[in-house]
Amino acid sequence: MLIELIEIHKFFGSVHANNGITLTIEPGQILGVLGENGAGKSTLMKVLSGLICKDSGKILINHLEQELNSPSDALRLGIGMLHQDPHDFPSMTIREDLQIWDSRTGVKKSASDWQQLIAIQKDLGFHFDLNGTVGELTVGERQQLELVRLLWLGVEVLILDEPTTGISAAQQEVLFAALKKLAGQDKTIIFVSHKLEEVKELCSRAVVLRKGCLIGERQAPFNENDLVELMFGRQITRTRTSQSGTQDICMSVRNLSIEDFRIRIENVNFDLYAGEVIGLAGMEGSGQRQFLQTLAGLKQATGGRIEIDREDINGKNCFEFQKRGIFYVPSARMEEGLVPGMTLEEHYILSDCEKRMFINGKNSRMITETRIERFNIKGRAATNSEELSGGNQQRLLLSLLKDPARLLLLENPTRGLDIESANWIWSILRERCQAATSIIFSSADLDELTFYADRILVFFAGRISEPLPSSGLTEEKLGRMIGGKDWPK
Ligand SMILES: Nc1ncnc2c1ncn2[C@@H]1O[C@H](COP(=O)(O)OP(=O)(O)OP(=O)(O)O)[C@@H](O)[C@H]1O
Ligand SMILES: [Mg+2]
Repeated sequence: MLIELIEIHKFFGSVHANNGITLTIEPGQILGVLGENGAGKSTLMKVLSGLICKDSGKILINHLEQELNSPSDALRLGIGMLHQDPHDFPSMTIREDLQIWDSRTGVKKSASDWQQLIAIQKDLGFHFDLNGTVGELTVGERQQLELVRLLWLGVEVLILDEPTTGISAAQQEVLFAALKKLAGQDKTIIFVSHKLEEVKELCSRAVVLRKGCLIGERQAPFNENDLVELMFGRQITRTRTSQSGTQDICMSVRNLSIEDFRIRIENVNFDLYAGEVIGLAGMEGSGQRQFLQTLAGLKQATGGRIEIDREDINGKNCFEFQKRGIFYVPSARMEEGLVPGMTLEEHYILSDCEKRMFINGKNSRMITETRIERFNIKGRAATNSEELSGGNQQRLLLSLLKDPARLLLLENPTRGLDIESANWIWSILRERCQAATSIIFSSADLDELTFYADRILVFFAGRISEPLPSSGLTEEKLGRMIGGKDWPK
């Protein structure tokens, strides 16, 4: 399918999110779409997938002009998009969630089609229980489910908006092989990502957006530095501050057991030092989320102790944990972290201002302006959270974190951030470690884990490793452990 986007413009109020973008995408091509946070990538992809309407410009599919007024319109033409944040139905079973789309596109699936669905899952190395509930999946798994759904619906053009946040290296290999195979069958793949190694490995061509404009493009083979320069207008290097852990114990975990219907983890023991950063490595859904939520008091451990200053706080509610300076940031930012429909200022009022009968408008405005500036959020005090780009939502979420804090529990803290923003967020987090705040974070990015964590806990099939010093771990070794190899008997 040949796609031609001609002079696409899209405004959100005064924001010119897409500014005259002209782009032709040939069938069989895997096109990388790059650009800093807020550059307009998701907007352009949403226009092409019918989720939002362009203000002006033309979309030609196989030389015919098309009006795409809804995702169903696009799906009927064979264009499907996997979104940065899942567009699914958390309260439904996986089977129902798949069926909804089925009826939307007007194609009724038969029993043999369900067999085909299972085959697609298997091919990609994903395993969904069709009777399980969507909301019980992690964000990464929900992205996997959307991918399976789109392939099942037989799309010709597959748009992926940062699809690899939550999958392991092995699954990524399978996914990339599947995408290359699809491209070989003359399907078109559009891949939006902040991870340049992935673009390098997968794409045959890459375009770069900046401030709503298409500012350049490159053909494979790519040079990473060249792409960075094109995206940011300069080179970006990552700097690691020195190890920050002290000898003071921030939290002691003893014989901790966690259990829910998906996962059972037993006998976890470790001491977390003040100012230390511990990374959680593992395949998506291996218990990292449950572990973080248990340490945040959001989930009850089934046994063991969580000691703070020698006091066991296991069993207390999350407010007691918060009183002791323990705060949690979830990965599902729009569902669990931010409140859609509320402005930035209202978020700061909720999280920062004193709880009184009346809101001190002057004070809340001041807090808002300071945070927007400090966290470099592309938005205004009156902007609603869902109007921010993915990366800017993540900045907002992190800007809500209390300071001072004893322990920050962060689930995929740099999900959706461009390289520059991710570096910058880590410089802020590391600064807080210097002030003796400890951090435990999960990430699907091995590079991020080995680079920023002082020690790493590896999760695999209900087991958690000893804390391993990251200085002695290579990405290869970590990758093997995540896949269940190299574990002590
Ligand atoms: N629904 C909306 N309402 C108002 N403004 C919006 C809306 N969606 C996007 N914008 C604005 O349009 C601009 C481009 O956003 P977009 O989501 O396309 O960026 P992006 O390149 O995908 O960034 P990221 O890498 O952070 O996901 C941003 O300034 C954003 O705040
Ligand atoms: Mg985006």
